[in-house]
Amino acid sequence: MRRTISFTLNGKPTRLAVDDERMLLWILRYDLGLTGTKYGCGEGLCGACTVVVDNETVRACSTPISEVAGKSMLTIEGLEHEGKLHAIQQAFLRHNAFQCGYCTSGMILSAYVLLQKASRPTTAEIIRHMDDNLCRCGSHTRIVEAIQEAAGSKERG
Ligand code: FES
Ligand code: FES
Repeated sequence: MRRTISFTLNGKPTRLAVDDERMLLWILRYDLGLTGTKYGCGEGLCGACTVVVDNETVRACSTPISEVAGKSMLTIEGLEHEGKLHAIQQAFLRHNAFQCGYCTSGMILSAYVLLQKASRPTTAEIIRHMDDNLCRCGSHTRIVEAIQEAAGSKERG
């Protein structure tokens, strides 16, 4: 059903007249031009499309826009602040924590939620939290190192 949906997107009040069953991923990529959110499996399994809604990770490929009504959403485009990359983004760059980069937005936003909840997670906690975000290029070790650095927990077990 077509209706107007209001939410906050990367800090800005946003109102869209859309089919309320349209998936968030298509709204972001095609309606709003925010192509940092990637289409991987399309079935909620890979995490490439991860965005943050009210401080929780959400799979945009399998979440209808109606579910973000009245909520606050963060995409990878909203993570930098005044032209400066977020500490997690900087750590990913420093550690070359990607190869093709297709999983990277989802990885970074998933790590962002982890560090919002646990500022100094252990390596085991990082691995557990990131387990559902897949990287086909096998960059997992460098991804974990980048998150450790961003958390300031490089030496913890
Ligand atoms: S594209 Fe959404 S989880 Fe894979
Ligand atoms: S860097 Fe290619 S899928 Fe992760």
